[in-house]
Amino acid sequence: MSGILDGKRILITGVLMESSIAFHTAKVAQEQGAQVILTAFPRPTLTERIARKLPEPAKVIELDVTNDEHLDRLAGLVRDELGSLDGVVHSIGFAPQDALGGNFLNTPFESVATAMHVSAFSLKSLAMACKPLMSDGGSIVGLTFDAQYAWPQYDWMGPAKAALEATSRYLARDLGKDGLRCNLVSAGPLRSMAAKSIPGFSELADVWNHRSPLAWDMNDPEPAGRGVVALLSDFFPKTTGEIIHVDGGVHMMGA
Ligand SMILES: NC(=O)c1ccc[n+]([C@@H]2O[C@H](COP(=O)([O-])OP(=O)(O)OC[C@H]3O[C@@H](n4cnc5c(N)ncnc54)[C@H](O)[C@@H]3O)[C@@H](O)[C@H]2O)c1
Repeated sequence: MSGILDGKRILITGVLMESSIAFHTAKVAQEQGAQVILTAFPRPTLTERIARKLPEPAKVIELDVTNDEHLDRLAGLVRDELGSLDGVVHSIGFAPQDALGGNFLNTPFESVATAMHVSAFSLKSLAMACKPLMSDGGSIVGLTFDAQYAWPQYDWMGPAKAALEATSRYLARDLGKDGLRCNLVSAGPLRSMAAKSIPGFSELADVWNHRSPLAWDMNDPEPAGRGVVALLSDFFPKTTGEIIHVDGGVHMMGA
């Protein structure tokens, strides 16, 4: 059976639990013919345990995306395993507790800086760490939560996602000449670990119960994973700096 990622080699960050968008991305990518390599934070053992639930075995490499040593050694480790890459998935987000849940006006800059470093600047770090492996071009795909709006409880993750969205456009601008595309999937709310760390996440997610034209299931990350796989495939060959909404349609509803 042929798949839309046949013959492609894809690096996927962010597999932590079965509820991770990255886990479903890896699953669909393998089903569509890709060879997948995973990166892990905070511990490879956690990711290795979840990776056993994938249809095919996948090698796991430790990567804290804020650690320059980890970033410097990444290309060598991936080259030993796969030779080169056709795609990279950034499925990483984090903000300290005092940057979330209604503390926007009092969050110290240190916490804002951490959110920006892990959630936005890291897209550039990951892209540049993997660039030497994509000399024939390729596709970089990240995950955002619509940063056009001020959401309840989301607080400094909002500006961090706005920075991620802008970073993706600047990467698309600067890497286009190397045949590299950079796009984001803007997903609706999903009950992952990252979501559980946001106090009052249900209040935010409740918007989808009232406004989503398509029925939205917060326990099903597969539609987001499928969107990522589509952007990794050859079916968006001239699309870059774009944000594809996989949110049931909420982004375009006026009321
Ligand atoms: N869950 C949602 O409602 C939702 C909606 C839209 C977008 N997103 C985005 O999707 C992406 C994946 O989140 P998820 O919902 O699958 O949750 P998740 O908790 O399963 O994934 C978040 C990942 O970030 C990783 N991470 C955190 N700090 C890191 C670091 N320093 N270095 C490397 N990795 C690090 C974690 O290990 C984890 O795998 C995030 O960018 C998130 O903001 C999530």
